[in-house]
Formats: sequence, structure tokens, C-alpha cells
Amino acid sequence: MLFDLKPKENVKDFFNYVEELRAFVGYLTNSSTRMIVVRGLRRTGKSSLLRVGLKKAGKPFILIDTRELRSISRKSFESKVLEELKSIKGIPESLMEKIEGLEAGIRISFRKDENLWKLLKKLNPIIAVDEVQMLNGTGVESFFAAAYDNTTCKIVLTGSEIGVLDAFLGKDDTKAPLFGRVYEEIKMHTLTPEKTSEFLDMGFKEAKKDIPKEIIGRALEELDGIVGWTAMFGNLALSLDPNTALKRAVTTGTKLAYSEFETFLATRGTAKNRYLALIRIIASKAIGWSDLKRSLEIELKESISDPQFTNYIHSLMDYGFVLHADNLYSIPDPLLRMALASQ
Ligand SMILES: Nc1ncnc2c1ncn2[C@@H]1O[C@H](COP(=O)(O)OP(=O)(O)OP(=O)(O)O)[C@@H](O)[C@H]1O
Ligand SMILES: [Mg+2]
Repeated sequence: MLFDLKPKENVKDFFNYVEELRAFVGYLTNSSTRMIVVRGLRRTGKSSLLRVGLKKAGKPFILIDTRELRSISRKSFESKVLEELKSIKGIPESLMEKIEGLEAGIRISFRKDENLWKLLKKLNPIIAVDEVQMLNGTGVESFFAAAYDNTTCKIVLTGSEIGVLDAFLGKDDTKAPLFGRVYEEIKMHTLTPEKTSEFLDMGFKEAKKDIPKEIIGRALEELDGIVGWTAMFGNLALSLDPNTALKRAVTTGTKLAYSEFETFLATRGTAKNRYLALIRIIASKAIGWSDLKRSLEIELKESISDPQFTNYIHSLMDYGFVLHADNLYSIPDPLLRMALASQ
């Protein structure tokens, strides 16, 4: 169903993004691509592209969502890799036993070269990790560098926190484990108003529901082409009257977007209030560097050094809360904008 809220798995439920899917499946099935990175803001369909593409490519794969790991560590990641290896179809019984043995930590009963790497080399799966930036600095970077260099496993990584993802990939850091490894990149973008309208039309047609044009128009404006928010509205409108559904989508979405921002703020220590003041200014209008700095200094009634200010802005961009385009800083998520404006 087009308005199902889980990440999509099947092409028939996956609206638009034909080019992205074609490119992704192409990279997954050719022999020359070693690593693929899927980027995009929150709720632009990265996990859906990942699942639909992996299924369509028809190659053995393991898929790990970092948000499901018991702890954010290399150890926990590797034990998840082992666990997922068991889900690959058609694994011979003898290999399955080895996986289970390794999983249980009874390595002692195997010849010492029969480790995780041997298994990966034998099974040669695509290793896909969703929201990989969460593992930044855990040593999982070295796991991938070793997988890249010593196996023929393809690696697929997604992330919504652009700068943190770049740090994971070791961009501009010659000492980082993954520095210099070549990868193909796919960017998930927001939908145009025409495409958003088509998505809603198709979804409501599929559900045999008639929705007034006026509500569709408001949804296009308020949800601004973010496929996740649009799917949420569509889903709610299946059981609520359309007006209430749009209101509910907006209130739920603003809460969710703001709580994600609060998680970021919680790690900012004493600079928390500066970040909040800064992002509120950007929420009120797209703004250039000098105007933004001046407005922040007026708001805080203190001066801020250029490097410090740049540091704040870069963190907001690294985590995907702020975009810089045409010399202006803006908040791409309409519901985060709304949450900040109504504070
Ligand atoms: N192409 C699509 N067609 C229909 N629904 C979609 C599509 N892409 C995403 N969705 C829906 O939008 C929501 C968000 O999708 P998904 O989880 O794939 O995005 P994401 O970018 O991985 O989000 P997050 O940043 O939260 O991880 C889900 O409800 C999903 O079903
Ligand atoms: Mg996702």
C-alpha cells in the first residue's frame, strides 16, 4: 500500500524515484561498484529505496539498521552481522553451524581461521547498513575498510546526518580508515508539488477514498514534498476525516521533528541556548551568513567569534537540520520549521 508507514519493500508501493532505484539496482548488480552511499534528509525514503533496491537486485544481502543495535559498538555490530548472515537464503547447513558457533562465542571449537571474515568471503553478501553515521568513531569504519580491501562483499551505507556520514566515510581525513575508498552515491530529494499531488492521488485511489482538492492543496503546502510526512497524512486520512488527518499529521510530525532536534541539543552542553536561538532565526526566514550572525548577536546580547559561529552552523548542517543553498541558510523540514516557529 502506498500509504503504509513502514519503509517500503516492494516496487509497487514505492512511488516515484525511478531513476534513483534504477541507478541503485545497477550499482548493486554490476561487478565494479564496491560501495554505495545513499544520502538524504530525514524521511525522504532512504530506507525504502534500500529495501526495495536490495529485494529487486536479488543478490544475497544482510541489512542492519543501526537503531536496532543493542549498543553502539563494533562488537555489537559484528554480532548483528553474524545474526543476519543466518537469514541469507540457501546457506549450507555446515556454514549455518559455524555461524551459530561463532555467535555463541565458542570460537575455540573451530580452526582458528574460521572466523567472521572467512564466512564473509564464502558467502559474499551485500552488507547494507541503514543510518550508519550512528556508528561514527566506534571502529566499525575499520570493519568496512577491511571488508572493502579483503573481500568482494559490496557495501551499502545510508545516512541522513550528512556531515556525520562524511566523517564516517573519512572525507578529507587522510588518517580515517575509509579515506580514499571509491563509492557511488545516490541522493534522495524531496518531491515537487506536482509529484506530491500525484502521490496523494494514487494513494487515495488505491484506498478508494475521495479527498477534497482544497485539503490536497494544503497538504502540498504544509508538508513541502517530504514523502514521509505525505505518506503519514495519507495514512491518517484513511481513518479520519481529511481535515483532522492533516492537522494530526502536522502536530505529530512537528513533535517528532522537534524531539529529534532536542536529542541533538542534549549533546551540546552549555551551547544549547545558542543553538536554539540560531535555529529559531533560521526558522523565521532563509538568511545569509552575516545577517544571521548579526541577528544571533542581537538575540543573545553578546558577540560571538567567527570560528565559533561557523562551528555552530556547521554542526546544524552536519546533522541535517539546516541546509546551505544559494548563500542562504534554511531549514528544509517544514514541520521542524513550524515546531520552532511555534515555540
Ligand atoms: N517512494 C515512496 N513511496 C511511498 N512511500 C514512501 C516512499 N518513500 C518513503 N515512503 C514512506 O515515507 C516514510 C519514510 O520512509 P523511509 O523510512 O524509507 O525514509 P527515510 O529517509 O529512511 O527516513 P528516516 O530519515 O526516518 O530514516 C515511510 O512511511 C515510508 O513508507
Ligand atoms: Mg530510514
